[in-house]
Amino acid sequence: MNKDRYKIGVLKGDGIGPEIMTSAIDVLTLVGNKFNINFDYSYGEIGGSAYDIYKNPFPDETKKIIDNCDAILLGAVGGNKWDNVEPELRPEKGLLSLRKYMQVYSNIRPITVIEGLEDASPIKNGIMKDVDFVIVRELTGGIYFGDRKTATKNNIRFAYDKEEYNEIEIKRISKIAFDIAMKRNKKLLSVDKSNVLDSSKLWRTVVEEMKSDYPQVEVSHMYVDNAAMQIIKNPSQFDVLLTNNIFGDILSDEASVITGSIGLLPSASIGNFKGLYEPIHGSAPDIANKNMANPVGMILSIALMLKYSFNLHEIANFIETAVETVLKKGIGTIDLNLEKTVTTTEWIEELKRVINNK
Ligand code: IPM
Ligand code: MG
Repeated sequence: MNKDRYKIGVLKGDGIGPEIMTSAIDVLTLVGNKFNINFDYSYGEIGGSAYDIYKNPFPDETKKIIDNCDAILLGAVGGNKWDNVEPELRPEKGLLSLRKYMQVYSNIRPITVIEGLEDASPIKNGIMKDVDFVIVRELTGGIYFGDRKTATKNNIRFAYDKEEYNEIEIKRISKIAFDIAMKRNKKLLSVDKSNVLDSSKLWRTVVEEMKSDYPQVEVSHMYVDNAAMQIIKNPSQFDVLLTNNIFGDILSDEASVITGSIGLLPSASIGNFKGLYEPIHGSAPDIANKNMANPVGMILSIALMLKYSFNLHEIANFIETAVETVLKKGIGTIDLNLEKTVTTTEWIEELKRVINNK
């Protein structure tokens, strides 16, 4: 897409969602002015805040915004305020419905270490050095969307959630991962639990079958329990890590620890249509409205939007470099424990100063 006007749907969500989004949009508008590009924003509700207004965590009003925009930004959803809401109307259900509605079956989560943040990470310097990989997580299938039930039989309560994948779903997410590998170091690791699960056996078979289409890519497989260990033990071995919805959710939170804070990490969710961009962290209700939240994951998600949806690589790189410049100065929010701890708004002011001086 190449034009000078871009329509962005903005769903702030719950908890720290609104504050990080407001900050990030502020930055995008500034950068847009600098590069002479217009970003138009349409605001909608998602998650708990949508439930509060519409009694629906993914209302039709929000669908309309999605239909009319070129790409969607999302803050975060959820919070204990909605703990007693019936399962179908929970904030998280709104997010899952949004992903399904947009058919964004691939969630791309880059795991990179920013120079200068070594001390923010609990992982030893030597181990975290050179970490640079991408988690490609299947996002619209598997146990998140499978048949589920909670009931009582013979006075015993039971519940189940079904993990199911078909070959079409596995193929299309694998293709995304192979294509990303081709643009990187051509190493693809598929993570599954095929020593136990049928769904994983099919997963592995399909990935194996696709190898012949990508002779240059070195493909390997790992069980998820081992992968969880390797992410801490030797994370620089990875290039592209492909996995299903639930394993990807868990492994990406784990991998975020290497970088220093989950608050730093962005994600891009893409499919055949529009993209959805959100930080990988949650809504962190405990620190909401305290001007403490780390806005970096949200801002870097905007950079991913500029790349994947709008092909505006120069601007995306400009934002990424500006973010790194501030962090390298040792200025960060409280989660990073850097030399200088600042509030969300102070951090944004610093970033804007850097942007204005570039
Ligand atoms: C994530 C989140 C979501 C998920 C929750 C909020 C439903 O943890 O994006 O990783 O599990 O996908
Ligand atoms: Mg998660």
